Amino acid sequence: MAESTSPVQVPDPYRLELVTSDGSRTEAVDNVQRAVALGFHLAQPSDAVLEHYATYVEGERLWTIRQPDPDPEFPGLPVATMAAYPSTINTGHGHLEPTTFITDVTVRSSHRRRGLLRTLMTNALNRSKEEGLPFAALTATEGSIYGRFGYGISTRAQNVEIVADGRFKLNHEPSGTVSMADPLAIDDLRLEVFSAFHQAHRGSHNREPWHVDFASGRWDPQKDGPNRRIRSIVHHDDDGKPDGVVSYEIDKDFGSKITVVDMVATTPDAEVALWEFLASIDLIETIKAWGVDPATPLPWAVEDPRVVKFTRHSDLGWLRILDVDRAMAVRGWDHQGSVTFHVTDSMGYAEGTWRIDVDAPGAPATVTRVSDSTDAATLDVAALGSLYFGVGRGFSLAAAHRITGTDEQIAAVDRMFSTVDVAHNISEF
Ligand SMILES: CC(C)(COP(=O)(O)OP(=O)(O)OC[C@H]1O[C@@H](n2cnc3c(N)ncnc32)[C@H](O)[C@@H]1OP(=O)(O)O)[C@@H](O)C(=O)NCCC(=O)NCCS
Repeated sequence: MAESTSPVQVPDPYRLELVTSDGSRTEAVDNVQRAVALGFHLAQPSDAVLEHYATYVEGERLWTIRQPDPDPEFPGLPVATMAAYPSTINTGHGHLEPTTFITDVTVRSSHRRRGLLRTLMTNALNRSKEEGLPFAALTATEGSIYGRFGYGISTRAQNVEIVADGRFKLNHEPSGTVSMADPLAIDDLRLEVFSAFHQAHRGSHNREPWHVDFASGRWDPQKDGPNRRIRSIVHHDDDGKPDGVVSYEIDKDFGSKITVVDMVATTPDAEVALWEFLASIDLIETIKAWGVDPATPLPWAVEDPRVVKFTRHSDLGWLRILDVDRAMAVRGWDHQGSVTFHVTDSMGYAEGTWRIDVDAPGAPATVTRVSDSTDAATLDVAALGSLYFGVGRGFSLAAAHRITGTDEQIAAVDRMFSTVDVAHNISEF
């Protein structure tokens, strides 16, 4: 069902419309997915794709922009799309904070650079702010789009390629046990292990439950059906509790290359044991994986560290802080001390000066809005997003002219925002 709403200035002659899904296919929801496929250069969606889409976006706000009817190019299709839904991020020390997740951002090629993305983004951020959500989060196809809207890179992903021949030998015996599992029979276990991961890792972004469809191979959008090559292995700790699960695909019949589709490990021992199992599979020569923990113990846990090659480092999560008071109050702080900073925000949501006082490592911060910015380091809100999980360091951002201030002010930003743990996010959305 489509309903009209107009909380932002929409460029003439376009109109903003909200589409929602109750989980079943409707013409309006189908047309959103068709527009998304057009924008992302995907194959035209089949009935099976449209059915899955309607389920997956149930309850999400599918914001669309339409041109006056009849649309001469694609009757019924919106020219721009953006989906928004509430989820959670781990802000450190096990705190999960409600956050707006933004995805499926597209503008039809014939309507680009007319301010339609800006309209959709302003609308989504205004609503999140009104609803009291302190953050918006997204993952990006291009690095140049979202900084202007106040998003900063907040988590990173790295890819590895592992030599899985006789050279792969661990220098210790990880605890627990690894076993194979029917990929279609462990949905609850996958959800349980991810939930433990999400609770344990600063920077983790929650996943929608349908993620298990991809991990199990039940549904692969690229195949327009199931992926029957998916295999799964599970790690149990010494008490028999599952704490790691991997889905992987072997390239072909009798193949020698593994691609890890999804790895969730809540402890270093679970992670290392899962790698070892994959590397021990007969006929396998290489393993490729993405989203590997930036602090992975693997290269330190093998006798020959050159069997682990890091092939790509990239941004994963982008964080937009909307409410600095709340964001700082719910952050897990690892260092005692104080810092004062002034935030600039061209969209106005987070402009101001704040003083943070932390009495002891691990204690919550006292967050005070102050009127005098004389003794404050100055940074833009995107840089604050990059500092938030400890991924961007204060001295690096200062060297890049993203933070200005005296040496002491910058040292205070660097020290207070640095974290003892390393943020780890494994969710693309
Ligand atoms: C990226 C995309 C959504 C931009 O939409 P758009 O309606 O053309 O963007 P707008 O006209 O609202 O532009 C807003 C601002 O972003 C800039 N911008 C837009 N797309 C950009 C891009 N790909 N790279 C750099 N800057 C970009 C514009 O120049 C403009 O800057 P300004 O406000 O400082 O003048 C659109 O080109 C698209 O659909 N691309 C393919 C799908 C895609 O990549 N989606 C992003 C998914 S994460």
